[in-house]
Amino acid sequence: MIDLHSHILPGLDDGPETLEQSIEMARLYEKAGFTAVVATPHWIAGSRWAPDRDLICERVALLRQALSLQEMRLMIYPGMEIAMDGDLPDLMNTKHLIPLAEQSYVLLETPFQRLPAGWESLTAQLMEKGFRILLAHPERCRQLNEHPEIFEELIDAGIYLQVNMGAFTGEYGVSAENTAYYLADKRCIHCLATDAHDASHRSPARAPGAVRRIKKQIGENNLDLLFRLNPTRIIDGSPLASMEKPVPTKQRKIWGSR
Ligand SMILES: [Fe+2]
Repeated sequence: MIDLHSHILPGLDDGPETLEQSIEMARLYEKAGFTAVVATPHWIAGSRWAPDRDLICERVALLRQALSLQEMRLMIYPGMEIAMDGDLPDLMNTKHLIPLAEQSYVLLETPFQRLPAGWESLTAQLMEKGFRILLAHPERCRQLNEHPEIFEELIDAGIYLQVNMGAFTGEYGVSAENTAYYLADKRCIHCLATDAHDASHRSPARAPGAVRRIKKQIGENNLDLLFRLNPTRIIDGSPLASMEKPVPTKQRKIWGSR
């Protein structure tokens, strides 16, 4: 499995404070069966959480070195979870911000209340510049919980959806859980991620339990698509595939007909 959304880097946001805590998270990732993680610290314009590209790459190098000293094989890539802001198209262009694994996918944080006015133009401008949009945990947005028909607009706009796996186990409440199942039933999720922040509460160790539950809902092939194939394409910067639709149940044979 590959995790595309993780606050594993130390001292940058509400993730681990120390390198040791980051290593502990990495250990849990390996135990849960992950081979690679894209580190996505928060980036919120004008806040104390706005680490620049160089600082993130420095912390990635530090963590990679520490894992290699411990003979751990988990691969760490740089990235960011970017809060929506009108200046993003310019900032992405000046290489101030980092797409996932420094390729073409921008992980945009979905606000908890509602999408900002002008999201259509913001995402269109980013796409015109050659970026692809991966929307982080849309199932946690109240507006989308109440108006799931907006998901169709998002998908029609060419936006990809990343759901947090913990949503399927009720980690974020009933509304997020219902929306996660709604998206799974509609087969319109493009990848799943942990959004892990630590080694205890929001931990990678929770992944295997969530995976079992999700597998029952979407089947083995879709599970592989959302945890391995599409995340690999994101790391390579190539287009994503959609989930397989369920096979329609055969029409019941009318009694006596041949
Ligand atoms: Fe996050």
